[in-house]
Amino acid sequence: MATKMNFSSKFMVVLAIIMVMFSIQAKADDNHQLKETKLSAFFHDYSSVGPNATDLPVVGFPGKLWRYDKFGTLYVLDDLLTEGRELTSPKIGRIQAIAVTVSLDGLNAQVSGSLVFTNQAYDGSTIQILGVDNQFSAIGEYGVTSGTGKFRYATGYITIEFLSFDSSISYALFRVNVTIRH
Ligand SMILES: *[C@@H]1O[C@H](CO)[C@@H](O)[C@H](O)[C@H]1NC(C)=O
Ligand SMILES: *[C@@H]1O[C@H](CO)[C@@H](O)[C@H](O)[C@H]1NC(C)=O
Repeated sequence: MATKMNFSSKFMVVLAIIMVMFSIQAKADDNHQLKETKLSAFFHDYSSVGPNATDLPVVGFPGKLWRYDKFGTLYVLDDLLTEGRELTSPKIGRIQAIAVTVSLDGLNAQVSGSLVFTNQAYDGSTIQILGVDNQFSAIGEYGVTSGTGKFRYATGYITIEFLSFDSSISYALFRVNVTIRH
């Protein structure tokens, strides 16, 4: 004897199938073991106006000063990343980011950027940085929201440590430490 299924019982069957599919998917994901990776590198920042600048304000409020410590300033940077603190130390890649001074007091910057690797170990891989912190503090911390290549599914955080500044050439040296699970 054929039983006629009404719409709602058909819907329940479809729903049950979807739920089974999702639980199989979830089981497969559980098998993916996250590993922790820690990296430490240095980056070289030139904020002077000139042909060699690697970090510059590009826009701000009309009629107001476009500077890092002014609310509403957007700046862009593309700094060399090296293994050691010397400029001649082996290259790892670049830190490429936009940042906007987002607190009215001019201290906090919202940073959205990437570590773009070109070294042999991680060539073509990236780590995505996102977050807000006091851009003038000795150590800043930002989130890692994702990654590509060797760092797919990455989450974690980075610290950015201010090390030195040479005002004659507007050169600042920073260390970036990355702690991620991926
Ligand atoms: C820019 O960099 C080049 C190559 O390193 C250097 O020769 C030149 O003096 C630099 N210019 C300025 C204004 O710092
Ligand atoms: C970054 O890593 C280096 C090397 O492991 C360590 O000496 C330094 O204290 C770390 N910096 C921060 C802010 O954790």
